[in-house]
Amino acid sequence: MFHGKIASVCPCSSVDRAAASGAVEGSSSLPRGTFYLTPGMVPVLWEGCLPGVFFGVKMETLQAILTRKSVREYTTQPVPDEMVREILEAAMQAPSAMNRQPWHFILVGDRSQLDALAAILRFGQMLKTAPLGIVVCGDLELDKQRGYWVQDCSAATQNLLVAAHDRGLGAVWLGVYPVEERVLALKKLLGLPEQVVPLCVISLGYPAAKPEPPEKRFDPDRLHYNRW
Ligand SMILES: Cc1cc2nc3c(=O)[nH]c(=O)nc-3n(C[C@H](O)[C@H](O)[C@H](O)COP(=O)(O)O)c2cc1C
Repeated sequence: MFHGKIASVCPCSSVDRAAASGAVEGSSSLPRGTFYLTPGMVPVLWEGCLPGVFFGVKMETLQAILTRKSVREYTTQPVPDEMVREILEAAMQAPSAMNRQPWHFILVGDRSQLDALAAILRFGQMLKTAPLGIVVCGDLELDKQRGYWVQDCSAATQNLLVAAHDRGLGAVWLGVYPVEERVLALKKLLGLPEQVVPLCVISLGYPAAKPEPPEKRFDPDRLHYNRW
């Protein structure tokens, strides 16, 4: 384990973000100073901070992918706007068939609207306590009806989940499409145009507890070489 020093003065609360993301062991409520970087974490100069004044912690891509897991309980702390922007940038950077980017994202922060989503999604009750929901939608016109929108929007959703985890947020993918009654109910609730289909809802917030590491899923039995 690498023992790293994080300077005590940080104007942009990166220490809190790093601690919340699980990138460092230690709590933001402890006196700032020494944090312990877990394997795979690399110390970096944080954006906007003077070299030598502040060192933040950046989660490596593979580490973020391997440690992400669904989070269904949140604190009441709102998700900062700039963080929402960052994770949406990650979502929209996803690959898409012929680069059509056939997605739309509906940000739902209104309490009554979040409760209404929870009333539609039987397995989405965590939306009742989430500070934010993001509805990922596919636009069939942008997709040119080719049917790739599900894959495109799923790639965007996964990017969003990993980026949220990277930033210390907790999130869970709530399935909507292809369950017809969920699709119809969400279209009505959100006033979606005819050609826009909700794929899923992401429930998002700061985790109420530090998640346990996920189980390892790599399974060599699922590998096939050159043919089945
Ligand atoms: C298409 C899809 C639909 C899902 N729907 C729900 C859901 O309705 N409610 C829920 O709590 N989790 C839902 N999940 C999350 C899965 O339960 C979760 O990803 C899975 O158990 C693996 O756990 P992990 O995300 O922690 O790795 C969904 C995930 C996917 C990909």
